[in-house]
Amino acid sequence: MKMAVLGSGYLGTVYATVMASLGHQVVAIDVDEQKIDSLNAAEPAFHEPGLKPLLIQELASGRLRFTTDAATALKSVGIIFICVGTPQSIDGNSTDLKFLYESVDAITCFANAGALVVGKSTVPVGTAAQLAVRLSEYQLDLAWSPEFLREGEAIRNAMMPDRIIVGVNSSDVEMVLREVYKPFSNAGVKVIFTDFHTTELSKLAANAFLATKISFVNAMAEICDSAGGDVLVLAGAIGCDERIGQRFLQPGIGFGGGCLAKDLRSLISSASRYGVDNLAKFLEQVDEINLRQRHNAVQLVEEMCRGPLLGKKICILGIAFKPNTDDIRDSAAIGIALTLKELGATVRIYDPRAMKITKHHYPMFGFGSSVMDAAYGADIVLHLTDWPEFLEIEPSQLGTVVQHKRILDGRNALNSELWMNDGWSYRALGRRTALSRSGII
Ligand code: UGA
Repeated sequence: MKMAVLGSGYLGTVYATVMASLGHQVVAIDVDEQKIDSLNAAEPAFHEPGLKPLLIQELASGRLRFTTDAATALKSVGIIFICVGTPQSIDGNSTDLKFLYESVDAITCFANAGALVVGKSTVPVGTAAQLAVRLSEYQLDLAWSPEFLREGEAIRNAMMPDRIIVGVNSSDVEMVLREVYKPFSNAGVKVIFTDFHTTELSKLAANAFLATKISFVNAMAEICDSAGGDVLVLAGAIGCDERIGQRFLQPGIGFGGGCLAKDLRSLISSASRYGVDNLAKFLEQVDEINLRQRHNAVQLVEEMCRGPLLGKKICILGIAFKPNTDDIRDSAAIGIALTLKELGATVRIYDPRAMKITKHHYPMFGFGSSVMDAAYGADIVLHLTDWPEFLEIEPSQLGTVVQHKRILDGRNALNSELWMNDGWSYRALGRRTALSRSGII
C-alpha cells in the first residue's frame, strides 16, 4: 500500500521504517529540513538499537523516503498515519495538541478525498471523535490506533506488538485496517477493534498501570526503609505470583522519559475534567511517589556523605532515563543531578550514549570520558541508569580512582555483595535495614 507518515520524530521514524520493511511504499513527512536530510542519509537523530541498519535497508529498497513536501506526499497516498508528538502542556497536566492540530490542517489542505487517516499519537479521551467530525467535512475517514513502542526495543515492539488496538466509527474503515494489519494478525498479534474512547483510554491506562506498578514498589521501598525490610526480596517474592509478575517491579529512583509521567498526567487531567476525582487523586499519588524517590535519593547521598554536599565530588553513572537510549527527557537522573548541583556539589557524569545530548542541554555539569574518568577523585558514585556495561564494573578497579568507596545503587541492579566485599559502602533505596543487618552500614 502507498502510505504517508506525518511526523518523523521517534515514533514516526520507527513506524515508517517498519511499515516499509513490511513491503509498503512509505513517505515520511516532517517540517524540520535538517532532520529530513539526515534521515534520507540514514542518520536518525536519536539512538535506537537496530534502527539504523533497517533504515539503510529500506531507503535502499526504494520503499521508504523522507520529505518536507507535505503537499505532494499527502496527495500521493490513500492512507496517512499521524505520528506527531503530543507533549504535556507547559502550564499543567493536560496534553498540548498543537502539533496534532497542525498535522490535521495539512491533511485537510492536501489529502485526497476518500483517504484514511490513522492517528498513532497518544491523545486524551475525546480527541479522535472530535477530529473525525472535522475530517468528515473533507470526505476523510479517521481511525485511532495508538502505538505502544518501548524505547530501546522499539523495532521489536513495532514488528511484534503485544497487541494492536484500533478505534473506528465505521465498518468500511475496519475492513481496510484489517487488511493493513494482516501481517500482524497472521503472525499471531491480537488486533482489537473498538470505539475511539476505549482506544484512547486503553493507551493511557496501559502507561498509568505501568507507572502504578513502579510507584507501588517504590512506596514499599519507603516502608521497608522506615519499618525494616528488604524491598528487593519483597518484590521478588510478590512477583512469583503470576497475577502480579516480576516485570516493572524494579525499585529505585523511579520512572522518567517522555511517556509514563506525561500520560499519567494526561489521564489525571481527563479524570478531573470528567469529575472522576478518585481516579485523579489515585494517579496523583502515583506521580508524587515517583518524584519523591528522586528526593529520597538525594537524602541518601547526604546521609552517606555524612553532611552537606557543598564541595563534594559526585560521580553519576548513567543519565539516560533508561538503558539502550540516549533520551534524557524527564530523566530521574537529571532531576537528581540538578538538585545535587544546587546543593553545591561538583557533578561529573558518564553515560554510554547520552553524553552529547546532556552536554548540549546541561553544559553546567562535568563529564567523564569513561566510568573511571568520571569517578576520578569522587566522594561518592551514583549508579542511576542500569546500562548492562555498569554491571560489569570491577569494584576493586573503580576503588583505585575514587576518594571514598561509597556507591548508591539508584536502580537496585548491582551485585551488592560484590561491592561490599570489596569494602565499598553500598546503599540502595528500600534496603536500609537489610544492609545494616548484614553489618555494612
Ligand atoms: C513506555 C511504555 O513502557 C510503553 O509501553 C509505551 O508504548 C511508551 O511508554 C509510550 O507511551 O510511547 P518507555 O517510555 O520507552 O515506554 O519506557 P519504559 O520501559 O516504560 O520505562 C519507563 C521508566 O520506568 C524508565 O525510567 C525505567 O527506568 C523505569 N522503570 C521501569 C523502573 O523504574 N522500574 C521498573 O521496574 C521498570
